[in-house]
Amino acid sequence: MVLSLSSNGMVLMDSMSSEVQGKSAGSVKPAFTIVPTGRALGAEIRGADLRGLGPEEFDAVRAAWNEHQVLLFREQSLTLEELLAFSRHFGDLDFAPIQENGRRFVDGHPEIYVVSNVVENGVAIGSLGSGEAVWHSDMTYVDNPPIASALYAVEIPPAGGDTSFCSMYGAWDRLSSDVRRRLDGLRLKHDATYNSGGYVRQGVVETDDPRTAPGVWHPLVRVHPETGRSALFLGRRRNAYIDGFTPHESDALLDMLWEVATDPAHVWQHRWNEGDLVLWDNRCTMHRRDSFEASSRRVMYRTQIKGEVARTR
Ligand code: SIN
Repeated sequence: MVLSLSSNGMVLMDSMSSEVQGKSAGSVKPAFTIVPTGRALGAEIRGADLRGLGPEEFDAVRAAWNEHQVLLFREQSLTLEELLAFSRHFGDLDFAPIQENGRRFVDGHPEIYVVSNVVENGVAIGSLGSGEAVWHSDMTYVDNPPIASALYAVEIPPAGGDTSFCSMYGAWDRLSSDVRRRLDGLRLKHDATYNSGGYVRQGVVETDDPRTAPGVWHPLVRVHPETGRSALFLGRRRNAYIDGFTPHESDALLDMLWEVATDPAHVWQHRWNEGDLVLWDNRCTMHRRDSFEASSRRVMYRTQIKGEVARTR
């Protein structure tokens, strides 16, 4: 295979994959390889052990993340402390949101959110059960939603529970210039009533009136502070509401935007294996999860990297 050096110091293997060099005892060896999924977003980082990334390798991971929006690392073997240490490379961590049953976090680790259908001694150990989790980006019902989430697979059901991702840069880019002009300056209410599993959040009264539902306002189009690219910012469909519109006008425009954003032709779907870690950028992607058999077990640990107020164009 012919290798060539790219401008950012990576060795290109072919038109898609690239190797990142690492140093070990004076010699240079490939630290890992970046392999795009071939879909609209996402890349696999092959050969990286997340327990031992050096500063240069971490910079390369960050650059790949900015380019591909979602990164997959397979065959990891992380303790909770190592998951936290890897996540902290991207910034300070948010505390985990409260589960549907009022539990907050793994004992001793307030930053770790458990996504699981497993019930122990009559109590669910995590959130979202075994049903579908609808398209969303994480925690957009707060003023500063996390910039990123890292989800680490500990137990995986034999079938189902795949997670899909779509690019909100792509959604913006696919809109006509007329629609883009119409969206500039609009604000969207992101609902705080329901989580992506359809469960009512703790302490909230159930409602399906988007005008009165609790939530926070964000710009409908945001600018990513690291890439400078514009992205649609939709959060969740249920109870979403565009400021100043009638409910009918708001629903009509949102339905159209959601159809563009979640077009299956532009989605990458991940089938999990135990030991997979997927890191996604909440500022420019959304994700959803397939349902799976309730009698099987799925246990995932998630961290959330502290966020920022969404930037407007
Ligand atoms: C999540 O929405 O953070 C969980 C996704 C999943 O369970 O795969």
